[in-house]
Amino acid sequence: MAQKLWDKGKAVNAEIERFTVGRDREMDIYLAKHDVLGSMAHITMLESIGLIKKEELPVLLAGLRNIYTLAEKGQFEIEEGVEDVHSQVELMLTRKLGDVGKKIHSGRSRNDQVLLDMKLFAREQIQLITEDISLLFSALIAQSERHKEALMPGYTHLQIAMPSSFGLWFGAYAESLVDDMELLLAAWKITNRNPLGSAAGYGSSFPLNRQMTTNLLGFDSMDYNVIYAQMGRGKMERTVAFALASIAATVSKLAFDACMFASQNFDFIKLPDECTTGSSIMPHKKNPDVFELIRAKCNKIQSIPQQIIMIINNLPSGYFRDLQILKEVFIPVFKELRDCLQMSAYIVSEIKVNERILDDAKYDLIFSVEEVNRLVLNGMPFRDAYKKVGSDIENGVFKPDKKVQHVHEGSIGNLCNDEISLLMQNVTAKFSFKQVNDAINNLLTFAAN
Ligand code: ARG
Repeated sequence: MAQKLWDKGKAVNAEIERFTVGRDREMDIYLAKHDVLGSMAHITMLESIGLIKKEELPVLLAGLRNIYTLAEKGQFEIEEGVEDVHSQVELMLTRKLGDVGKKIHSGRSRNDQVLLDMKLFAREQIQLITEDISLLFSALIAQSERHKEALMPGYTHLQIAMPSSFGLWFGAYAESLVDDMELLLAAWKITNRNPLGSAAGYGSSFPLNRQMTTNLLGFDSMDYNVIYAQMGRGKMERTVAFALASIAATVSKLAFDACMFASQNFDFIKLPDECTTGSSIMPHKKNPDVFELIRAKCNKIQSIPQQIIMIINNLPSGYFRDLQILKEVFIPVFKELRDCLQMSAYIVSEIKVNERILDDAKYDLIFSVEEVNRLVLNGMPFRDAYKKVGSDIENGVFKPDKKVQHVHEGSIGNLCNDEISLLMQNVTAKFSFKQVNDAINNLLTFAAN
């Protein structure tokens, strides 16, 4: 056979192998236990349609169960020369059980295996993210309630504007997380559909029972059309990444506020000492490095949807090896975001608030609108009241009355934290976590017996 121009024999093949496998052997470790779960569901279904013998099923399930335990303990390894998690699992099974191990791949392709693995991985991670969000949410609501009487300046254009409060400030970020959870819920729904059975992307001539694997794995439904199921590779990642980016944007803005408000020129809050870092030259320094890193990490996370779009954009339908690169962009994002959420929850709960900021006369003018509104309530037309207060300010005779009376929903005097908490409870209850966890537990218990 004619040699390719660039073919230098074995050495080139090894290089091609290194290049095409890329970071898969590292990334696939995160998928190992999910790959095993998928195979458990698949072979249970294969037995039901006669492609695996009744007596073979428990043997295979027990073998897979052992591999699952290894993976859970962090002891699953992809050996030198083995391409990916799918090959490694089959290899281990065949080594231990002989030829019967070779049966598990009937009616499958690595294309639907990896699709499924990524969805199972994302499901687990989304659940963990919601737990971390709940921690931060509770910390924010608690601080909002604790400091609901403490006023602070509100800004527009970073110019002092109107009275605000710590109750409002903390509560705003809590409510932002509610809407982030709505996006995450949409991402969850798209994630929680079963692509298994789409095989290479065009189904199989075996009479696969896809509803059965859908139920066994606790999915809400399947991705029915097998071409669409394959098209979900990248679409799921992009959608989940958008939701994560939204959470990250909330946390990053909070981090910026906190860094700014902790500066001596604002002096609104104090971060816990153990969360600040010193300087090698300036002995007085207590820097907000933790929030600065949270800000940068969360800003970086907001680039993940764009990175995913760049990888999947302009690919026609069907599988392409391009899709493999999604893993190294998508998989690490969860740990990074969870770290930021957990750190934020801790620091937020420890923030000390300066309750006396507004004693400083430099903030007096934030009460100008309060004064205008008071005149209006006493019968003066708004424009006349606006002009009077304006000229009082110009003439240096404006005297603020620092008592504020805001009563409408979501204002200083009526934070609606109970309503916000209810929104959070309602959206959280819509994730089908219990169905998923029950199914996985059943599958594992079934395999162990
Ligand atoms: N490592 C591959 C990926 O992540 C697995 C699928 C391989 N399939 C193929 N047709 N080459 O995409």
